[in-house]
Amino acid sequence: MDEKRAQWGSKLGFILAAAGSAVGLGNIWKFPGKAFEGGGGAFLLMYLLIVPLIGMPAMLSELAVGRASQANVVDSFRRLGHKGYTWVGWMGWAVAFLITCYYSHVGGWVLRYVVSYAVEPGKVYGDPLGYFYGMLGYAPASGVTFLPWAALVFAFLFMAVCAFVIIRGVQGGIEKFNKIGMPALFLILVVLLIRAATLPGSGEGLKYMFSIDAGKVTPQTFLIALSQAFYSLSLGMSIMVTYGSYLPKEENIAKNTFLVCTMDTLVAVIAGFIVIPAVFATLGPDGVGKGGGFAFVSLAGVFEHTPGGAFFGFLFYLLLLFAALTSTVSLIEGIVAFLTERMRWKRTPTTVVTCAAMFLIGCLYTCSQAAFPLKGVWFDFANGVTFPPLCDAMEFLTDRIMIPLCALGTCVFVGWSWKPESAVAEAERCGVKFRLVKAYGFLIKFAAPAAIVVILAVSLFTGTTLS
Ligand code: PFF
Repeated sequence: MDEKRAQWGSKLGFILAAAGSAVGLGNIWKFPGKAFEGGGGAFLLMYLLIVPLIGMPAMLSELAVGRASQANVVDSFRRLGHKGYTWVGWMGWAVAFLITCYYSHVGGWVLRYVVSYAVEPGKVYGDPLGYFYGMLGYAPASGVTFLPWAALVFAFLFMAVCAFVIIRGVQGGIEKFNKIGMPALFLILVVLLIRAATLPGSGEGLKYMFSIDAGKVTPQTFLIALSQAFYSLSLGMSIMVTYGSYLPKEENIAKNTFLVCTMDTLVAVIAGFIVIPAVFATLGPDGVGKGGGFAFVSLAGVFEHTPGGAFFGFLFYLLLLFAALTSTVSLIEGIVAFLTERMRWKRTPTTVVTCAAMFLIGCLYTCSQAAFPLKGVWFDFANGVTFPPLCDAMEFLTDRIMIPLCALGTCVFVGWSWKPESAVAEAERCGVKFRLVKAYGFLIKFAAPAAIVVILAVSLFTGTTLS
């Protein structure tokens, strides 16, 4: 069966696909907002320490598990002789499924905004909040709600593109798509960085990003940075295990880990240096902290006040679109790989059926944003049982519980059962010595699990959202 497994066609193909998975809405949409909340420099500094100390060992472990087992995420732990960890694989698979349901819908909103900036930027500027909520089926001025057809239609289109790429397979679809998407993304990023840096008044934002506010150097900021790092690096889901399983033996996974983490962090930091100075220059600091809708609502103010703004707005959402597409594709690949291998289902119908199911579940997510009062159930020790909007409950479940649990399971598996030496041996199969054996062993056995346990405990006991 092994020789039938798909493999990456080239080194670059894998690196771009893994970076494509990691670089997503998390980097460009979430990171700047978190960096602002965390006091700019203070957050940045912590983030830059967390990536090498916790993110890199965790990613190396996931890639090693995938490549050593040559299996999809559910079967990988069993293949390595540890049946007791199969639940980690199931959890990874399930969280990838749930996340895709809503990640693809947010991708659809982004696609909607690409079109909006191309054809009707004036409408977006005229009433940014009304435009955003209008897409989601709610008119803030009159309080009327209606079917959010615009969001749903674009989410459908977004999902259809992803399904198409997945059906084409690992080399023909995912790899080819990322080879175009990732360089395009870097190019757009550079153009926008130059634009932001040359806006009059952007210096204030730059200063904010470089200054360290001692009051923000807190455990809370640390935890926000930590969970952002996991999300941004695509850890704690089936992705890096699945992508690792398509890697040939002669590939250096340690070097790849370093490259992918570096690229992901670079994009996040650059996005921070685009968004924060641009928002400071046009709207002032108050423009940043507008929660989830910030990338859609506040940024309209930025583009309205920027010469050539509609064009740069279009470019910005195109950038977000590429990032969201490559990440969604990686999530779906993890889901489909399991179904085709374990259930022996065919790739095309499996992709169509799972994507259709995820799109439909995602419709509940979009509809519960503003249009309809659909509720979910939640529990934490601080607030007891609550009934948040369904969309929030879905995110709580994945971000607060499932991702940390799956990441913890993987670290404990590699640190204590499979043993760091096995992961190191896997890393050294390419013939290059891995020099950080001791540090890696310590980080994966103690530091990473301890940090994840703290994230889990804080969200369960205090009810705080950290991701
Ligand atoms: N890393 C992606 C981001 O930063 O947006 C999100 C993501 C994609 C997480 C794929 C996990 C994953 F498997």
